[in-house]
Amino acid sequence: MAKKLWEKDTTVNPEIERFTVGRDRELDLLLASYDILGSIAHSTMLNSIGMLTDDETAALHSELRNIYSIVEKGEFVIEDGVEDVHSQVELMLTRKLGDTGKKIHSGRSRNDQVLVDLKLFTRNELQNICEQVMKLFGSLIEQSESHKDVLMPGYTHLQVAMPSSFGLWFGAYAESLADDMLFLKAAYAMCNRNPLGSAAGYGSSFPLNRTMTTELLGFDSMNYNVVYAQMGRGKCERNIAFALASVAGTLAKLAFDACMFNSQNFGFIKLPAECTTGSSIMPHKKNPDVFELLRAKCNRLQALPTDITLIMNNLPSGYFRDLQIIKELFLPAFKSLAECLEMATYIIQRIEVNRNILDDSRYDAMFSVEEVNRLAAEGMPFRDAYKKVGLDIEAGLFTPDKEITHTHEGSIGNLCNKEITELMQQHFASMDFSKARNAEKRLLAR
Ligand code: ARG
Repeated sequence: MAKKLWEKDTTVNPEIERFTVGRDRELDLLLASYDILGSIAHSTMLNSIGMLTDDETAALHSELRNIYSIVEKGEFVIEDGVEDVHSQVELMLTRKLGDTGKKIHSGRSRNDQVLVDLKLFTRNELQNICEQVMKLFGSLIEQSESHKDVLMPGYTHLQVAMPSSFGLWFGAYAESLADDMLFLKAAYAMCNRNPLGSAAGYGSSFPLNRTMTTELLGFDSMNYNVVYAQMGRGKCERNIAFALASVAGTLAKLAFDACMFNSQNFGFIKLPAECTTGSSIMPHKKNPDVFELLRAKCNRLQALPTDITLIMNNLPSGYFRDLQIIKELFLPAFKSLAECLEMATYIIQRIEVNRNILDDSRYDAMFSVEEVNRLAAEGMPFRDAYKKVGLDIEAGLFTPDKEITHTHEGSIGNLCNKEITELMQQHFASMDFSKARNAEKRLLAR
């Protein structure tokens, strides 16, 4: 039995095959379960338009579900000589069912197959990322609330500036994640549209019922225009990558702060010894490698939109094999970000906060504006108060009052964590993951 879907009367040069298949045999394994779901929906639709009999459809479904369980057991492989997951599934169907297996590809192309696989894969992975973001968000808000009275210096230019607090510091990253969630929401909406039926990118002369496959797969709607559906390859991945990069940007900045604040020269936070790593030569070391690796991984994730752009940048409309390479960057990104989110949540919960930072007089000057404001509130013009305090500091006459009251929204004394949490919950609740989950369950039910 020919292992290439397109093999006719010539055999392929093995060097050419190795180069063109690339890493598909390994990477497409991540798409296998989704390829099967797509095939169940497609064959159901072919049956409804008279392209498959009821018996053929039942046989295909039963075999597809059988292959699905092989995937679930981790035993699915793409054999030598088979190009990709799409070819492997069709080969398995044809080995088992003969001509019936050969009928399933009517009205579709691997171009729309891989499109639909990518959408289903991404939809699932995005749900996981959103759930992980919610967990990290919860830990940040918790830490913010339990340290809301602990002051620390705020910096501009990395110079001691004004009073800040751990309530503000933790809470800031929580609110940053709430904005990132907006990108994730847009990413989910964008990938939740059905490209199946666009075939090679120009549709089919069969009267395909694309509304039906859209409903069967639990998509919100379809990519209507078949040319646009194909043009979405690369564009969709790039835009979803922007959402991942947005989360990664939040994590990378948090990680840099944490590395810096953990240094002896700051001493603002500490990690429990079991969360640090040692040195092979310096016996005293307790290094914050976790934050350093989070930073590096998340910085690399921020390159993803650009990397994808560079692959697809100069392509006109229509399918090109260039697009295959995007999978190498895009598919592993979800696991990488999910691991970072999980680790960030773990480590944030374990950060120990120094409650006595301000006992050190090197931070006294950060209360300068408090003193200026006190004088201004008593009636001295702000600019005069500013000058007086500045000269007092120069003359060594400034003794700060470390009792401060900041009351406006989003300040030390009024963190608005409740409002931030409501905002985040609104974003999260507006995504309906259950529609997709239920549709997939229905396709697999006997
Ligand atoms: N492995 C291919 C990809 O990811 C699948 C589509 C192949 N289509 C084609 N016309 N060669 O792009």
